[in-house]
Amino acid sequence: MLFEIVSQLEKREALDVLVLPFWEKGGKEKADKAIEAVSVKEYTKQIKHITDTNDFSGKECEAVIIYPEEGKEKRLLLIGLGKEENVSIDVFRKAAATAIRLCHKKKLKKINFLVPTLKATTYLQGIVEGILLSNYKWSLRARSDESSLIEQVTLLGVKSTARAMIDETIEIAEGVYLARDLINGNADDVTPKYLAETAKGISKQFPDVKTTVWNKKEIEKEKMGLLYAVGKGSPNEPAFITMQYNGNPKSKDKSVLIGKGVTFDTGGLNLKPTGSMETMRDDMSGAAAVIGILAVVAALKLKVNVCGVIPTAENAIDGHSFKPGDVYTSYSGKTVEIGNTDAEGRLILADAISYAVKHLSPTRIIDFATLTGAMVIALGDHVSGVFTNDDKLNSALHKASAHTSELVWRLPLHAPYKELLKSDIADIKNIGGRAAGSITAALFLEEFVNGIPWAHIDIAGTAFSSKEEHYIPKNGVGFGVRLIVEFLKQI
Ligand code: BES
Ligand code: ZN
Ligand code: ZN
Repeated sequence: MLFEIVSQLEKREALDVLVLPFWEKGGKEKADKAIEAVSVKEYTKQIKHITDTNDFSGKECEAVIIYPEEGKEKRLLLIGLGKEENVSIDVFRKAAATAIRLCHKKKLKKINFLVPTLKATTYLQGIVEGILLSNYKWSLRARSDESSLIEQVTLLGVKSTARAMIDETIEIAEGVYLARDLINGNADDVTPKYLAETAKGISKQFPDVKTTVWNKKEIEKEKMGLLYAVGKGSPNEPAFITMQYNGNPKSKDKSVLIGKGVTFDTGGLNLKPTGSMETMRDDMSGAAAVIGILAVVAALKLKVNVCGVIPTAENAIDGHSFKPGDVYTSYSGKTVEIGNTDAEGRLILADAISYAVKHLSPTRIIDFATLTGAMVIALGDHVSGVFTNDDKLNSALHKASAHTSELVWRLPLHAPYKELLKSDIADIKNIGGRAAGSITAALFLEEFVNGIPWAHIDIAGTAFSSKEEHYIPKNGVGFGVRLIVEFLKQI
């Protein structure tokens, strides 16, 4: 999609539609104030007419198309921003997304978007983000259904200095699209090998990113016993991917980002029941986010050191599948009793964390994983759980989250629950029972972090959406890409 800027309203070209955002006004001053705010003189009468009818009052995400008799445009699209005192960056994202979705429905391809006078530049970023994040379609027939997308948006009343912010936001959106495409693709296509090829493709595009891949044989030889165990029941062989980007070679600071890459989770021999398996191609959403983040970081040439680590496997059923009750040795040397083969995410993450601890000298580790069904029950599909051993990391993540509106909520790494992971036959067991399922999963991971500042983000509820909501599409969301890019920009 092409973004253009036209600073002076009068100089605009007539496109398919002119989008006009309105604050919600109460009482009789309502219409006048709204018109004043928009100040497209030629439409004053028509707009007053519709606001007088009370059919449109500027409520959040209210939208109506009108067809003026005179003037440059064939169509005006009025969108509501809600009450001005409730303004936030997300108000603009949602309003812009509402306009874009309506344009999709009406097949309008080229739009003028009048930007109201804004108190903060982040609000303009919100508009651009809302437009970009909602201008995404995924269909089974084509990976992304380009035909229904908007081709051009011209922002009216914006200074040309906004260009840099727009270009940066486009790169970030590209990273989100990449993550969404990876999540949405068929599990039979988006295999561990495919994720590895995608990571290598990013290295090709951005030579600052160095990608290495271990195949199944190497995983076995290197004694990554848990990743090997999870992957051995599938003809789609496991892989272990690292993506290094050193944007600040003088600094020792390094963020290691780990993403769960289970390309399909049948549950293994502890097979998931019908109703629980249908969305399990999303079980690599953590990996998708990490790949998307690395692509953005490299495209923006951020001056930070980041390493993406992706353990990836298909948790399948076969004579070679790993077995409940058996004991496997992790990369760290700790032995793990398999209480349930469906708790596979923590196994492959444990090996990835141990790898990071042993070889990457991380300043901090952040892992993303669709780890537990209990997370969905606790926080639903809008909020991800954060588990961390570091208060500073926690507040930095919350700060980034407040900016991107990818919501996170801290949950406790309650140490006494470690008791629940005790095993008679190994150092630890991979399940802790039904109660506090997300916490015991996080506590399992903590056993491998060796005290390094670490945050685990459980995105089981937020990675995949069952319905379209503002700028959140149905299916793969791409949760975490914007969050971590913002986080990295702040450190
Ligand atoms: N991939 C699932 C978690 C999940 C559930 C993600 C729902 C997205 C939506 C994970 O591997 C899993 O199956 N976890 C089990 C763990 C249990 C066996 C201890 C779960 O949460 O039921
Ligand atoms: Zn599972
Ligand atoms: Zn899983």
